[in-house]
Amino acid sequence: LHSKLFCVQARVPTNIAFLKYWGKSDAAHQWPANDSISMTLDLGTVTKASPAEHTEILDAQGNSLPRHFVLKPLKHIEHLQKLLSFSEPLQFRTHNEFPASCGIASSASGLGALTLAAIAAWTRSSNFDELASKGFGLERLADLARLGSGSACRSFWGGMVHWQRSEHAASQMVAPIANSTSWALRDAIVILDANEKSISSSDGHRAAWTSPQFSDRLARLPQRTSAILEAIAVRDIDRLGPLLEVECLEMHNIAATSEPPIHYISDATRAFLSYWDQHGPRNAYYTIDAGPNVHIIYEEAQKDSVARVLAGYRYLDTKVGHGPELSVVL
Ligand code: PMV
Repeated sequence: LHSKLFCVQARVPTNIAFLKYWGKSDAAHQWPANDSISMTLDLGTVTKASPAEHTEILDAQGNSLPRHFVLKPLKHIEHLQKLLSFSEPLQFRTHNEFPASCGIASSASGLGALTLAAIAAWTRSSNFDELASKGFGLERLADLARLGSGSACRSFWGGMVHWQRSEHAASQMVAPIANSTSWALRDAIVILDANEKSISSSDGHRAAWTSPQFSDRLARLPQRTSAILEAIAVRDIDRLGPLLEVECLEMHNIAATSEPPIHYISDATRAFLSYWDQHGPRNAYYTIDAGPNVHIIYEEAQKDSVARVLAGYRYLDTKVGHGPELSVVL
């Protein structure tokens, strides 16, 4: 293919953390303070990359995007160029499969798709086998995406994914959890406030260490990690669910007791949670990320009862998803 005409399309899914990555042990290298576990969702970001005169990130129609939206991605591209010695400028066209105002953080899928599209374009790779033959297997791609957004590294596999912390780069591991891909879990994302969060997760990671409760959390987490892994291994939603709820409330408590305090949970979130406590069906559980919206995690069989309880709310219903995709655009 003529290099100017080479255009690749990457699709990387987003994910919802069951066990939250909150706090870094090394900010510069983006090492997490604790393990995290997530479910890959059936929603993602699609990004095309092709050689260009200068590097730019546009929307799918080729229109420019607000500066605050492209700042972090452009920095990540620059970082990858330096790290991997690629100098070719690329034009990116990107599109989220979820509505911009639905309150889902797009950093995992966004930075993931950007990383995959960029490396495929620079190496002129049309598929994952070609990428692997050039030294960019999934593990390495996930590791490079991690530098843009920590949670992006978990988006390189479908099903459930475990990111294991380590003090040493070589023993860091991100891997899918065996047998989780066929567990038909769903996620109903209840949109309580569609506005962008005002405090970035980077600020939250930094502040975590100032919470007087953070070290207790870190000490408690190995046991919760094992319990979540066991619940997933036996596919028991009633073992997994209560752990999800305790875990997300603990993360929000760390944020709220940080200096300065960070409040992602809003009055609308609290009002919803008390409604859910009264009316939510059994076998359906919540988790909340760094924002006010609530994710209801449940098994396919509960779809109708969840829909009945959420009827008065705006929500986006999705399910467990598969890993990234890559193709050449002709
Ligand atoms: O990937 P980051 O730096 O945006 O951090 C993600 C933090 C949470 O979404 C709150 C938790 C997680 O593990 O995804």
